[in-house]
Amino acid sequence: MTDLATLYDGKVIPFLRPGPRPDRTRSDGWQLWRATLDGFTAAPRLSEREHARLGARHQTLYDLHRTATHANLRLLETPMSARVSELMQRRLQNNAVKWNPGTMDGLMVSGGGKQGKTETVCRALAVFEELWRSLCGEMYAKPPPGTRDEFVPVAYCRLPVRSRPKALCQSILDVFGDPHPKTLHDLVRATRDSLRGHRTSALVIDDVTRLRLHREDDQDTLDLIREVMDLDVTLVLVGVDIPHSGLLRDAYYDSRTGQWIFPETKHGKSFNPQASTQTERRFDVVELDPFEYSTPSGIAAFLEHLAGIEDQLRLLRQIDGMLTSGEMPEYLFRRTRGVVGLLNRLIEDACSVAISTGVEQLTPDLMARVSIRLSDLDDLDPESGEVPDIPADSVPPKPRRRVRNTVFDDHGHRDAAGV
Ligand SMILES: Nc1ncnc2c1ncn2[C@@H]1O[C@H](COP(=O)(O)OP(=O)(O)OP(=O)(O)O)[C@@H](O)[C@H]1O
Ligand SMILES: [Mg+2]
Repeated sequence: MTDLATLYDGKVIPFLRPGPRPDRTRSDGWQLWRATLDGFTAAPRLSEREHARLGARHQTLYDLHRTATHANLRLLETPMSARVSELMQRRLQNNAVKWNPGTMDGLMVSGGGKQGKTETVCRALAVFEELWRSLCGEMYAKPPPGTRDEFVPVAYCRLPVRSRPKALCQSILDVFGDPHPKTLHDLVRATRDSLRGHRTSALVIDDVTRLRLHREDDQDTLDLIREVMDLDVTLVLVGVDIPHSGLLRDAYYDSRTGQWIFPETKHGKSFNPQASTQTERRFDVVELDPFEYSTPSGIAAFLEHLAGIEDQLRLLRQIDGMLTSGEMPEYLFRRTRGVVGLLNRLIEDACSVAISTGVEQLTPDLMARVSIRLSDLDDLDPESGEVPDIPADSVPPKPRRRVRNTVFDDHGHRDAAGV
């Protein structure tokens, strides 16, 4: 049996945070987040009998540790997140080693609410930073002459709900802790100086679809975003349903390269006098989809994800295949429509019910008692489509209507055409 005394009787309880969660939108918070990435220690596995033998204090702490483990499920690679990460790595690396002048191609990551956009992008950004620091950390150890700007290779910022152009610049400046000038023109100039001074290679603007982009007079905002691309960084825009958000207004699709192109702006004022020399700006738009449950490969990927989650659960009566066999996968898919964030939320809450009721196992019946409630609703912008559509139906499947999962069945040889 694991020695819980070493875990819980020291000065530091391993599953309690030493302070507030790091704010990734500030460069020091981002570094703290990177340093503690995957640092969470999951609760050990105990059998029911071992649990019963614990003293009252250890039992309470262990149950709290299990709850924390269920609330901090690890990020699992999915086929959808792998696609986004690969594209992002490629784009960031290619741009970072460019010597020739010219606007760098950008990337837009689009998807529905709670589909894992932020976490996927932040992880990919952290991987790139690791590489970039190892290559240029020494070269950039000293600030540029005449400044005290430290090396900040990647910058991650989020937009507040219903933002205006000024808020975009302010969010970028806040990453570096740099002051906000008053006028928009000065803000744009300060933003450019900050990104240059800190030798930033990648700038992520999350929740970009919060910008008011639907109205004609929002042209300023669009112009500004395009001009941010001229600031010698790889711009990664993340938002809900970008193709319908108005962000691609004026852009056209180039079927040869599969990219979206913003032609040179002909109207309105330019925030950046140097921008007049630019010709066009190119973006890849990549969708981060939810799981799907209509093809063998889609079902197999969902089952693999469920197996990855199950492995992290610490219920005293859990059995192998608790999430991946019988009615459970279809039920979980129906409850969440394959959205990773909703799935995590449902499992976390269902585990709490399983612990508090002593059931200590997840079953469709137990899950039917749990509604998916998002804890961060105040932080979501319904107007931008950030609040996901949560299926209302929580009825467990009828036991008699068993549908056998055929995903691993041998369907015989098929040739490349699938016939
Ligand atoms: N690949 C993954 N594996 C496991 N859990 C994931 C994965 N991706 C995201 N999650 C979890 O799903 C939840 C939502 O993720 P995230 O915040 O990245 O989604 P989002 O699409 O950015 O949501 P929003 O629309 O609110 O901005 C988080 O709890 C996150 O840990
Ligand atoms: Mg997000």
